Amino acid sequence: MRIGVPRETFPGEARVALVPATFPMLRKKGIEVTVESGAGEAAGFPDALYEGAGATVGSRADVFAADAIFQVRGLGTNPEAGREDLDHLREGQLVIGMLDPLVAHGEVEELARRGVSAFALELVPRITRAQSMDILSSQANLAGYKAVLLAADTIAKIFPMMMTAAGTIKPARVFVVGAGVAGLQAIATAKRLGAKVQAYDVRPAVKDQIESLGAKFVEMEIDAGEAEDRGGYAREMGEDFIRRQRELMQSVCEESDVVVTTAAIPGKRAPLLITAEMVDAMPPGAVIVDLAAPTGGNCELTQPDERVVRTGTVILGPTNLPSGAAHDASLMFSRNIATFLLNMVDGEGALSIDTEDEIVRDTLVTQGGEIVNARVREAMGLEPLTPAAATAQPEEKEANES
Ligand code: NAI
Repeated sequence: MRIGVPRETFPGEARVALVPATFPMLRKKGIEVTVESGAGEAAGFPDALYEGAGATVGSRADVFAADAIFQVRGLGTNPEAGREDLDHLREGQLVIGMLDPLVAHGEVEELARRGVSAFALELVPRITRAQSMDILSSQANLAGYKAVLLAADTIAKIFPMMMTAAGTIKPARVFVVGAGVAGLQAIATAKRLGAKVQAYDVRPAVKDQIESLGAKFVEMEIDAGEAEDRGGYAREMGEDFIRRQRELMQSVCEESDVVVTTAAIPGKRAPLLITAEMVDAMPPGAVIVDLAAPTGGNCELTQPDERVVRTGTVILGPTNLPSGAAHDASLMFSRNIATFLLNMVDGEGALSIDTEDEIVRDTLVTQGGEIVNARVREAMGLEPLTPAAATAQPEEKEANES
């Protein structure tokens, strides 16, 4: 089997899907790699490093001749430039990367039309066996870290307490909303920088995790009920809950210098937790970093990748923070994607797409010209596939449909 690694073409994307450090685990299964010239350059992995590790460096067309394409951003997360690669794709080829299939429906249809087996890494289930394949976690971790650095760099204050001959500076007060992967890393980073940190999440299970990082869990008198789903993600809360949450969060925002928001529900618009009115009540010079900017933002005023200033508060909505730590982000992504592929490769290096395996079933979006993923079909308003149709070969399907 040969893996092809194209250069990422999404504007500003500096990551690369596979790095030389991951080659040994692939080579053990006899898997070869072709990398597009310059693919790793922006992340600090020049062509020579790939060649030294045994890869072939070639053109984009050479890369797309491979059996499996590894991308950070496939068509769904790279909707414009990604379209240029459609003609390179061929039936039966594997395309593995971030595809945003619960939202990018048109792009999913395009991939299905090409007959590729497309795997969306965003859909890797949060189960123990899949932890080493979980790109959302590895990348959100870096985003949480970067968000705090961005806030620290933007605010006209310092984070730690400083007792000096020129007076005592109080520590900055940081409020983290949403304590999933990004939020917990934001808390840890703000603590390391010396800030006083508070945090809130609708999932009560995270209270201990917040406290174990030395932050204070903000208790709110609202019943979150069954806030956690089977996959460990939050469920969507009703509008009444969110309204009450905003009221209760107002006083915490009023006493915070920095608010980092990371509240998210997979496949849904981010909950709107900070209104313009709440921003107006924040201390002068406060900073909000809204990590949910790619999914609509947790703050009403957030504009993706813009700096918005309102009554002295700066609101930042960066949409690709992991790319700002492209080297380490690529190292982690590479390990995730390679482990994901190897889960489908047997001892002899042969590929087997076994949809009895939860990881394979949950991530496989298109196969044999069909959109085969139950969650994606539901999001697209398509009827569920009957078990017979889901397992049928393309030729059989055509026969069934005619
Ligand atoms: P996650 O699912 O691990 O965490 C989200 C957390 O939000 C969960 O703990 C959930 O319980 C909580 N939550 C949901 N509704 C809430 C509410 N109403 N109030 C308080 N908490 C609530 O997600 P992860 O991986 O930490 O990512 C967080 C966000 O950051 C996502 O929107 C993700 O797309 C985004 N992200 C942004 C990046 C960027 O560069 N802007 C990069 C990576 C991730």
